[in-house]
Amino acid sequence: MASAELVLGIESSCDETAAALVRGGREIKASVVHSQAPDHALFGGVVPEIAGRSHLRHIIPVIDEALAAAGADIADVDAVAVTARPGLIGSLLVGLSAAKALAYARGLPLVCVDHIQAHAYAGTMEAEVELPALALVVSGGHTALYRMERAAELRLLAATRDDAAGEAFDKVAQMLGLGYPGGPEVSRLAARGDRGALAFPRYRAKDGRPGFSFSGLKTAVLYHLRGQDALAPTPPPEEIERPADVAASFEEAVVDVLVEQTLAAARAEGLATVLVTGGVACNRRLRERMTADAAARGIRAVFPSPAYCSDNAAMIAGLGWEHLRAGQLAGLDADASPR
Ligand code: KG4
Ligand code: ZN
Repeated sequence: MASAELVLGIESSCDETAAALVRGGREIKASVVHSQAPDHALFGGVVPEIAGRSHLRHIIPVIDEALAAAGADIADVDAVAVTARPGLIGSLLVGLSAAKALAYARGLPLVCVDHIQAHAYAGTMEAEVELPALALVVSGGHTALYRMERAAELRLLAATRDDAAGEAFDKVAQMLGLGYPGGPEVSRLAARGDRGALAFPRYRAKDGRPGFSFSGLKTAVLYHLRGQDALAPTPPPEEIERPADVAASFEEAVVDVLVEQTLAAARAEGLATVLVTGGVACNRRLRERMTADAAARGIRAVFPSPAYCSDNAAMIAGLGWEHLRAGQLAGLDADASPR
C-alpha cells in the first residue's frame, strides 16, 4: 500500500483540541493534543462555553503543529477527517468549521467521523486484530460494548444505564478533594490503598444480560464518606479517613464490573478478542485485570497505547481513511450533532 492516502484528522468534541496526520489508516505520522484540563479544573468538570472558546483559540495552531511534526505541508494532505458527533455542539462546530474551510480551500475530500466509533477503531491501529471482535469503549462520556464486525462497522450490544465509568471516577475524585480529570488522580491514590478494605456494590443486570451502571457505586462511596447517614454533610477532604482505601476499593469495584460484563459479553457473542479503548482504558488496574482475566478464559485483550486511548485525532484520521476508502464523503453542508 505504497501510495495510501495521507489523512488530516481533527478532533474537538470535548476538552481536547487535537490534530493528527495518518497514512493509510494506521501509520501515525503526527498526533498533537492540546488539553484544556487546567481551564476546567477549577469547576471539576468541562464547562461548554470555556471549551468552545479554547478550541477556537487552539485549532489552527494545533493543526499547524501536527503538519510540522509530520514534516508535511497542507499540499501533501489527501483528505480531511473530522469528528462530527457526539460531543459538545459548540466544540464540535469549531473542528467541523475548520475542516470544511480547509477542504474547501484546498479542494480536498471531507469525511465526518463518529467519536465513539473512532475510539473503537483506535484498538485496531497498533495491533493486528482479528475481526469480528468485541469493543469496550470506556470514557468520560460513554461506557458501552460493541460488536465490531469490520473496522468501521459497530453494533451496540450494551451501554451504561446511567453514569459513564470515567464520570464516576471524576465524581469520586471530587468527593475526595482530588483534581480534574479525576481518573488518573484516583488511580494514583488507589495504588497506596487496600482494594479489599470496603465492600462497594458491583452492578449486575437482573436478567443476567451484559450492561453497566455506576451511579449506585458512586452513591455508595458518598454514603460511606457521610458515615452511612445520607443527610449528613460530605466531610471536607482533610477529614476523610483512609482516602487511599476508599479510592482503591472504588477503583476495584469499577474494574470488576468492566471486566466481568465485558468478558461475559465476549462469551455470549463467541468472540475471542476484546478491544478496550477510551480514556478509562489508560487505567493501570483495568489493563492488568482485563488482560489476566481474559487470558484465563482464552480471550485476547488489546489496549491502544495510553496516548490513543484518551481523546486524540489519530483515531479520527484512521477511521476517516476507512470512510474515504469506502467512498463515504461528507458535503460542505455537513452538520455536527451532540448525539
Ligand atoms: O476518552 P476521554 O479522553 O474523553 C471522553 O471522550 O470522555 O476520557 C476521559 C475520561 C475522564 O473521565 C478521565 O477521568 C478518565 O477518562 N481517565 C481515567 C484514567 N485516565 C483518564 N480513568 C481512570 N483511570 C485513569 N488512569
Ligand atoms: Zn473520547
